[in-house]
Amino acid sequence: MALLDNAEIRNHFPATGNMLYLDAAHQTPLSTPVRAQLDAFYDQAQNTAGPKAGWLARIEEVRAQLARLLGVGADEIAFTKNTSEGINIAAHGLGWKPGDNMVMLKSEHPNNAYAWLSQRSAGLEVRQIPEDKKWADAETFAPYVDGNTRAIALSHVMFHSGQRNDVESIVELARSVGAEVVLDAMQSVGVLPVDAGALGVSALSAGSHKGLLIPQGLGFLYTAVGTDVLAPTYVGTAGVANARTDLVAGPEAVELRPNAHRFEIGNFNLPAIHALGGALDLIESVGMPAIAGHLLSLGDRLIEHLDRLGIDLVGPRERERRSHIYVLALTDAAWPLYLTEAGVRLSPVRGGLRVSFGVYNNAADVDRLAEILERGLRTGRTATAA
Ligand SMILES: Cc1ncc(COP(=O)(O)O)c(C=O)c1O
Repeated sequence: MALLDNAEIRNHFPATGNMLYLDAAHQTPLSTPVRAQLDAFYDQAQNTAGPKAGWLARIEEVRAQLARLLGVGADEIAFTKNTSEGINIAAHGLGWKPGDNMVMLKSEHPNNAYAWLSQRSAGLEVRQIPEDKKWADAETFAPYVDGNTRAIALSHVMFHSGQRNDVESIVELARSVGAEVVLDAMQSVGVLPVDAGALGVSALSAGSHKGLLIPQGLGFLYTAVGTDVLAPTYVGTAGVANARTDLVAGPEAVELRPNAHRFEIGNFNLPAIHALGGALDLIESVGMPAIAGHLLSLGDRLIEHLDRLGIDLVGPRERERRSHIYVLALTDAAWPLYLTEAGVRLSPVRGGLRVSFGVYNNAADVDRLAEILERGLRTGRTATAA
């Protein structure tokens, strides 16, 4: 798949004119269409305290739009605060019995890992797999999985390397022992086509401030309708099916909504949901396959430059195993300051310097980064550990 002619899209992201922005895996910069949605929301809030009914209807429109992106039903999506909240809903909701274990990679993002590690006090055995290759598949997990494995937690795309794990084979392995797969899709939603239903995971959680192009503070949890394995840890009116219209909570038994909405409590992050609607419009206007193809093609171009410059890639090189994240094995402590001074925005991570692309990046960005790296190597920074 080719690079997009994205000049118009790029114009929607003013940050691209201020710096060489290569940090989408940290936070995508605000675009003008998303800003317009926020402005419209705040105008309504300021001028009339808001059309509450209209805002509530907007939640459902955006939920349906998000569900479309994920290939699932709107009743299978709950809005949350962030990835961590969705993963905690799953980790707390599964309910452990003595002897249960769960399995995850040792390299997982802490916002995924802590939800599970905290369950050790509830009797859960947590098995952390040391890394053995540059991506994970059923073969990676199989030696750690047994008849007592109740869950496998996993990032779809990993933040420290950009590796795209083989979710399908891991789901198959989990099914063979009756375990649930809980997927952290923070780094894949909006980057790669993510068909949550087809992946066959029991739950999928993500925030919206990376591939979904809005500021921090809104996430979502997908759980399949009819999945009765997850009990909500906390309950509020939004998740109750028999809440009374007179707003009196009586002594009658609480009936939870029969779908993912049972995990929602209280009021919603309305400005963020309005913003997400704008971001999803933008994503839909380009199309997920075209966005993914563009990001991978930027990666192809970067890898060519890295090979020429003798800089190693921490993650996998194969297209089907990578994403929008490319970690350059540049551990000389002088690199981050040098790059900042050259106007490059990226993130140092465990294995080196993380370059991550968004739909607004173009081939010239990649070439410019290569020029800056080449100059850095010429002027004394090393390509290997200091
Ligand atoms: C894989 C992964 N999971 C989770 C998070 C963030 O979690 P949250 O949305 O809870 O802030 C990040 C990055 O910030 C991430 O890269």
